[in-house]
Amino acid sequence: MTAITKDSQIPVSIDASKGNLARMIKEIGEMKEKRNAVILAHNYQIPEIQDLADFVGDSLGLSQQAAKTSAKTIVFCGVHFMAETAAILCPDKRVLIPNLDAGCSLASSINIDELRAWKAEHPDAVVVSYVNTTAELKAETDYCCTSGNALKVVESIPADKEILFLPDQFLGSWVQKVTGRKNMHIWMGECHVHAGVHPSAVEAKLKEHPDAELLIHPECGCLTPYLDKVARGGNDSRLQVASTEGMITQASKSSCSKFVVATEIGILHRLQKQNPDKQFLPISDEMSCKFMKMITVENLHHALAEDVFHVTVPEDVRVKALKSIERMISIF
Ligand code: 13P
Ligand code: SF4
Repeated sequence: MTAITKDSQIPVSIDASKGNLARMIKEIGEMKEKRNAVILAHNYQIPEIQDLADFVGDSLGLSQQAAKTSAKTIVFCGVHFMAETAAILCPDKRVLIPNLDAGCSLASSINIDELRAWKAEHPDAVVVSYVNTTAELKAETDYCCTSGNALKVVESIPADKEILFLPDQFLGSWVQKVTGRKNMHIWMGECHVHAGVHPSAVEAKLKEHPDAELLIHPECGCLTPYLDKVARGGNDSRLQVASTEGMITQASKSSCSKFVVATEIGILHRLQKQNPDKQFLPISDEMSCKFMKMITVENLHHALAEDVFHVTVPEDVRVKALKSIERMISIF
């Protein structure tokens, strides 16, 4: 039995609250086979979704998986710009997102008119857009990048070329500091989850756990006090700046057994699952992305049952946006 929520038309399963999770999980497996579908989930998804997915990863890994899957349908358990990226890369596939309201505050921090006006002020600049942007923005972009490859993308651009980097100010400042790039203009956008952490919260946590290693996402506002240190010596053994997938890799290979984790709390599930003997401490339980949490077992079940919600990108926009993603991919 399902009910439709007033605002988003997303069905909420009443059965789920009565303990029918196991039945839904079984049916999701069956429907996935029937539809020849693959489930891709971001590292911030709720544990149940991560456990149901065929692949869990960061923005870069998920787009690589989307590009190479042979499945006919991609059910994207993440936020809208990620599903759009899959639709840009795979025009012959049906890309579904279980909840159309799963947006991103960072992607919303710049619109197409603002980008066009900024470009007009710097007509010779190369535009580098973080993957957390809409398809429309990517279509006006020279190079796309993710947190996993932003340094390499910027380093690949000739030193005399001016760069417009958008939309994340903290990722931009980190890239600028590490690369030493002077001719880089940074858009002052931010993610409400990562910008909200004060450096004092990190300091307090590290004081409490002096034996812990700090894993910090470059979107974090609390990265600012460490920028000089990062620029001087790269990552040291106590401090690692990394994408979500970089954090997963670092936690497994590090000899440290305790980690303070400065990013969205959804990542703790995978970190703990893959490293049962290690301890992972969030900076704050409040580092939770409401958009990522909009994907539930119930609406994933509904997406497969009803073949919704279809994410599409107009062909002229898709072709232009693809170029910026292909340029990024060609660097590796
Ligand atoms: P990653 O690409 O590092 O997973 O980051 C995506 C994101 O939205 C971070 O908030
Ligand atoms: Fe966007 Fe921030 Fe959520 Fe990542 S955590 S999807 S950047 S709102």
